[in-house]
Amino acid sequence: MISENLIQDLNIELTEVKNKNDLMNVKSKFLGKKGPIVKLTSELKSLTIEEKKIRGTEINRIKSQIELLINKKLNEIENEEINKKLNSDRIDITLPGKASSFGSVHPLTQILDEIIDIFEGYGFQTVEGPEIETNFYNFEALNIPKDHPARDMQDTFYLEDDVLLRTHTSPMQIRIMENNQPPIKIISPGKVYRCDSDVTHTPMFHQVEGLLVDKDISFANLKSILNNFCHDFFQKDINIRFRPSYFPFTEPSAELDIEWENKNGEKKWMEVLGCGLVNPKVFDFVNYDAKNYSGFAFGMGIERLAMIKLGITDIRYFYQNDIKFLKQF
Ligand code: DAH
Repeated sequence: MISENLIQDLNIELTEVKNKNDLMNVKSKFLGKKGPIVKLTSELKSLTIEEKKIRGTEINRIKSQIELLINKKLNEIENEEINKKLNSDRIDITLPGKASSFGSVHPLTQILDEIIDIFEGYGFQTVEGPEIETNFYNFEALNIPKDHPARDMQDTFYLEDDVLLRTHTSPMQIRIMENNQPPIKIISPGKVYRCDSDVTHTPMFHQVEGLLVDKDISFANLKSILNNFCHDFFQKDINIRFRPSYFPFTEPSAELDIEWENKNGEKKWMEVLGCGLVNPKVFDFVNYDAKNYSGFAFGMGIERLAMIKLGITDIRYFYQNDIKFLKQF
């Protein structure tokens, strides 16, 4: 029978089909306008009604069989495509993963946190203030006269005539005293700015200011607090010395030096802070009665203390963000 031959031909052609395109060609060859099914259907016209019935049913049966075989092949091709894709996209779970590296706290921040912890242990309260200051807080109220070299353009970054980047944390003494009555017991850490740059100076550095005001405060109280601090901070016997000095906002004034060893094993002194008893002239600016109250103040350089404690010889290492340097801490 014609119909059986058709299915046989189709099966032979399907074995040659490699992709969807081939399959579409085969489909149109068998089911298209010029194909055998359309031809057989058009031949029905010349038959009797009875013959038409028999012949028509057979054509329909063969047509659905062709469609079935083509759809089956289409499924096969699509499955093959999916499998191919899955194989080529396969994730190799045996590859080692990318290790993520952890950051750490910057050495200066570590040192700053230690200093704050120690003073909070002594009962000091930590307060912070603005880095942009006025002449009044940075100089005038601290009894730094107009012709003082610290006001020089070469040291101070001026933003406007009267506005500047604070050159020290001492303005916080004024800000705290003008809004609070004694007893005062604060430290104030933060960034300060000066036009300066070499192995021990950077244009931005950190200080911690200290201020204690109460009745009967003497230089002995100041020495005792700073002695204890050096002991607690370095956790070992370390030589320190107070050296007479001058600051307009303290009277008398001193600087504290710490003994350290340089790379060649030589002992050296490094100045790490300025201090003194609050000058009564500063009390006048904040309306404190100097007959009733006295106080001490200090301002320490954090980079200097960090250099001694961590054994760093050049201050600029702190700001170069060299991972090899930072990883050591
Ligand atoms: N502000 C001074 C400076 O930056 C340091 C200083 C000296 C602070 C004496 C003080 C002090 O509180 O009493 O050089």
